[in-house]
Amino acid sequence: MKSICVIGIGYVGLPTAAMFASKGHRVVGYDLNEKAVNALNKGEIIIEEPGLGDLVKDVVKKGFLTAQTTCPDDCDVYIIAVPTPINPDKTADMRFVESATRAVVPCVRKGCIVILESTSPPRTVEDLMLPILKESGLEIGEELLVAHSPERILPGRVIEELRTNSRIVGGINEKSSVAVKEVYESIVEGEILLTTSTTAEMCKLMENTFRDVNIALANELAKMSEELGVNAWDVIRMANYHPRVNILSPGPGVGGHCIALDPWFLVEKSKNAKLIHQSRLNNDSMPEFVKDKIEKIIGGLNGKSVAIYGVTYKPNIDDVRESPIMHLMDMLKGAGVNVSVCDPHAGEKVAGNKGIYDASEGCDILVLGVNHNEFKDVDFAKLTAKMNAKNILDTRNFWKKTDVEAAGAKYYLLGDGTR
Ligand SMILES: NC(=O)c1ccc[n+]([C@@H]2O[C@H](COP(=O)([O-])OP(=O)(O)OC[C@H]3O[C@@H](n4cnc5c(N)ncnc54)[C@H](O)[C@@H]3O)[C@@H](O)[C@H]2O)c1
Repeated sequence: MKSICVIGIGYVGLPTAAMFASKGHRVVGYDLNEKAVNALNKGEIIIEEPGLGDLVKDVVKKGFLTAQTTCPDDCDVYIIAVPTPINPDKTADMRFVESATRAVVPCVRKGCIVILESTSPPRTVEDLMLPILKESGLEIGEELLVAHSPERILPGRVIEELRTNSRIVGGINEKSSVAVKEVYESIVEGEILLTTSTTAEMCKLMENTFRDVNIALANELAKMSEELGVNAWDVIRMANYHPRVNILSPGPGVGGHCIALDPWFLVEKSKNAKLIHQSRLNNDSMPEFVKDKIEKIIGGLNGKSVAIYGVTYKPNIDDVRESPIMHLMDMLKGAGVNVSVCDPHAGEKVAGNKGIYDASEGCDILVLGVNHNEFKDVDFAKLTAKMNAKNILDTRNFWKKTDVEAAGAKYYLLGDGTR
C-alpha cells in the first residue's frame, strides 16, 4: 500500500482520493480551500456527485482519507488535480498547476512519483513542471518519476467511470510510465495505455476537440441550411444512413468547462490548429445566430419580451459554466429585450427563474434553449395561452411541430430554412 497526496480535492481530486483510500491506501487531500478541507475531515463533501458522499464518509471514518491545507512531506505519490481555466484572451491560466508543482518540490524524496491529472496544454509536463521539479535536487526520471494521466470522467457517473474507464499514462520516460501504471492499477479496471507525457496531453485535448469540431460542422450545416432553404435536420437524418457518416446535431452553442475550453489550449500552442480555431469561433457564434433569428421572427428586439426555457450547458444538469444560453440572454438584455427564464435544474444560478407555465406569460417568443426532461411533455395550449405572440423557437429539435401548431402557435426550428 502507498501513501498518496491528492492536490486539489474538487470534482476530480476528491473522488480520486476517495477511490484510492477505498483500496486501503493512506490518502491525504491537500487543498488551499479551508472549507473543502474541513468538510472532508468531517466526512462531508461540498460538491454534488452521486455515491461520493457515502464513499467519502466511509473512508474518512476508517481513517484512510484525511485533508489538510499544507502539502504533506511523507507521501510516495503526489497527484495534481487543480483547475486549468482559460484567461480572457483564451490562453491557458496555468498558475494553479505551477503553484501546486512548487508546493511539491520541498516534499518529495528519492522514489517519489508526481502525476499531473489536470487537463493541460501540450508540453506542460516537459516545459512547465520539469524545470520546477528539478529544484528538488532529485534526478528526474530516475529518483523522481513524473507523468501526465488525464482524467476523462463524466460528472454524474464519476465513481463508476473512475473504475471502468480506460486510462492513458504518459510518463517522461518508461520507468515513470510503468510506476504510474502500477499506481492506477489499484483503482482502474479498464485498460491502461502507456505513452509519453506530451502524447497523453494531446490525447485528452483531441478527445474534446473532436467533439467540438464535429459540433461546429453541424452548426455550420444549420447556418447554410437557413441560407439555402434546406432543413438541416432532414439532411442529418438522411446523410447518417451512410454507413460511415455520423453528423452531430446543431444547437445554440457549446458550453461547459471542458469542450468549450480545451481546444483553445491547442490553438494557443500551435499555429497549425486552424480548423480547431475556426470551429471554436463557429460554435461561439451560435448564440448570436440564434439572437438574429429571434429578431427576424419577432421583427426587432428593443422592447420585446423573450422567454428562455433551459439555460444550463446541457440537458438535465445544474451547471451553467460557459453556457451559450446564458450568453444569449445577456445579448438579448443588452439589446433592450425583457427576458424571462425557466430552468427546472439551474435553481438560483439564474436570476428570476420561473415555473414552466409562468415564464411564457406576455412573451413575443418562447425559445427552447436546453432540452431538459421536464419540458418533454408540456401542455402547449397551457404554455402558449398567455403569450403575447404565439411563436416558439426550438433550438434542439426537441418538440414536435404538429404539437405546437395544434395549440395555435407557430413553430420555428434552428437550422430549418424551408419556411
Ligand atoms: N470536473 C470534471 O468533470 C473534469 C473532467 C476531466 C478533467 N477535468 C480537469 O481536472 C482539473 C481539475 O478540475 P476540477 O473540476 O476538479 O476543479 P475544481 O475547481 O473542482 O477543484 C480544484 C481544487 O483545487 C484546489 N486548488 C487550486 N490550486 C491549488 C493549489 N495550488 N494547491 C492546492 N489546491 C489547489 C481548489 O481549491 C479546488 O478545490 C482541471 O484541469 C479540469 O479541466 C475536470
